[in-house]
Amino acid sequence: ADLSKYNTMALSCVADMAIEVQSMDDIRYAHACAKDANLPIFVLSGGSNVLLPSALHACVILPKFDEFTVISEDETHVDIAAGAGLVWHDFIKQCLDKGWFGLENLALIPGLVGACPVQNIGAYGAQVSDFITKVIAYDLHTGETLTFDNAECQFAYRDSFFKQNPNRYIISQVQFRLHKDRSKTNISYGDLSAKAHELAMQNGNSAPQPQDVFTAVVAIRQSKLPDPALLPNCGSFFQNPIIAKSHYVKLLEQYADLPHYPAGDDTVKVPAGWLIDRAGLKGDGVAPILTHKNQALVLTNHAPHTATQTDIKTAQDFIICTIDERFGIALVREPVWVYAHVTHD
Ligand code: EPU
Repeated sequence: ADLSKYNTMALSCVADMAIEVQSMDDIRYAHACAKDANLPIFVLSGGSNVLLPSALHACVILPKFDEFTVISEDETHVDIAAGAGLVWHDFIKQCLDKGWFGLENLALIPGLVGACPVQNIGAYGAQVSDFITKVIAYDLHTGETLTFDNAECQFAYRDSFFKQNPNRYIISQVQFRLHKDRSKTNISYGDLSAKAHELAMQNGNSAPQPQDVFTAVVAIRQSKLPDPALLPNCGSFFQNPIIAKSHYVKLLEQYADLPHYPAGDDTVKVPAGWLIDRAGLKGDGVAPILTHKNQALVLTNHAPHTATQTDIKTAQDFIICTIDERFGIALVREPVWVYAHVTHD
């Protein structure tokens, strides 16, 4: 199966086998097929956070679960179940239309619902872990279907139990608890408040409503982040590094405008995009893999369906070395590196 159209970085990739699943029976069938063919299983969701190898020796599972149901509801909140195969952004839009709020800050993040808990997607001051109540997943080790509550998912910044245990679980459904209060929004992040107020005014609202926040996030993302359909990428390529406060104070002597976010007592988080930009690498890299001209944290592929993982590695290592030399900070990659021979632990 040719997967070059199934990963948003548009890397060239051919897999030994690919199977779509939309029920637990489908999963059990795919699991048996993979065993017969002596192939490990690899779950490919929206393909927006993976770097695939040219040849993937695996049985690739493509989740198509598409249910969208209310579990329970009262005056103030709703509990819903969403299939792993739903497109994340469309799912949020549907929630807003129904008057269910909370996820609007996470608008336009590429990918499918089933992947959102894996790397605990976050943007504009919100993390999906604040809204997830349960995750249903098939365990490839035991063949059981398990329900994880929020604590069992072990959520952290861009991290979860599922990310720590790769290739073991096939997530089929995610459950969320959303609120119904139109006056409750989360607009403390960066330029979001100004944009949301501007849109609220235009829409005749005295204060921003969730719909205004949604529109503001979409506008901000569109102005900075490349659309993978037009210029292949997988969002932030590096995590924002957490460094010692003493290191940060030292850097301030030379770079007075270095932004930072709080992260514990003795550490601060600094934006990797700023570091790459300040190192002079905005729009630069190693062709065909270049950082984006409006947001240096995003690596883009200028040779769609032709570039390979090796091209990514070359550009990535060049950036990591440059930032280490300049700031003494070791950047850590954010998207998942997939090996040709997917291993099971
Ligand atoms: N900056 C620059 N130059 C750049 C990029 C950024 O100077 O080329 C500066 C900005 O001016 C700002 C700071 O760095 O002062 C932070 O930039 P931004 O607000 O764009 O956010 P970020 O920290 O670079 C994170 C997430 C994004 C998310 C945004 C908004 C990570 C690794 N990335 O980026 O997530 O959309 O915040 O919340 O935490 C993703 O994960 O794929 C993603 C896009």
